[in-house]
Amino acid sequence: RRDAANPTDLAGLHVVVSAGGTREYLDPVRFLGNRSSGLQGYALARTAVARGAEVTLVAANVALPDPAGAKVVRVETTAELREAVVSAAATADAVVMAAAPADFRPGAVSEAKIKKADDGSAPVIALEQNPDILAELARERVRAGTVVVGFAAETGDDHGSVLDHARAKLARKGCDLLVVNDVSGGKVFGSPENEAVVLDRDGGATAVPRGSKSALAHVIWDQVVARVETA
Ligand code: CTP
Ligand code: CA
Repeated sequence: RRDAANPTDLAGLHVVVSAGGTREYLDPVRFLGNRSSGLQGYALARTAVARGAEVTLVAANVALPDPAGAKVVRVETTAELREAVVSAAATADAVVMAAAPADFRPGAVSEAKIKKADDGSAPVIALEQNPDILAELARERVRAGTVVVGFAAETGDDHGSVLDHARAKLARKGCDLLVVNDVSGGKVFGSPENEAVVLDRDGGATAVPRGSKSALAHVIWDQVVARVETA
């Protein structure tokens, strides 16, 4: 819970939030993309402004108005998202990767629009893996003490539960906090509500009951503040 007696507990901090989903172009008019709405990232940006932070919001293909008081950098591709986030991270006390970068991009972007062949054949698109921005931020720590926060949408499977997968991802990425959504059954996307567990690198877990994305955002900032203070 937010400390009601201290509504501006993020004052003096620069926080960077990424939001939305990246697009990886095949040609000038076509892309591979994903369903991220950007709502959680925008809720994080708005609540951080309200709590007094200097906020840089890196927004990828989001159909939402700029939050008042935040510096908004609009990007499209994962390469552009990486560039904007890494550059803003140089002066950041916290970076929250709420965006959904595409995991893969076409190996080549055609300068001309790809045309249909007369013989009815379809092109084969070779994909390359995109850089992992969160892992890079956690590894490089451009500025000592920056709190690095990731998100993960997981489902349980034969190899483990949602939390098993999330713990492994937190360790693999090397971030400080990982916000985990259980997406079994296809919930969350575009929904105004959210339910999550915030895992921290020291083994702690904070369950956040179903509620608004703003409510979850406040819990995330509470955890960030605690880690900035102990950094
Ligand atoms: N992320 C990132 N760069 C990428 C992919 C993901 O920074 N190229 C970040 C996301 O913004 C999110 C976190 O990493 O905060 C976890 O994303 P997720 O897609 O769950 O991780 P992946 O490593 O891509 O794992 P998966 O194979 O499960 O998709
Ligand atoms: Ca992914």
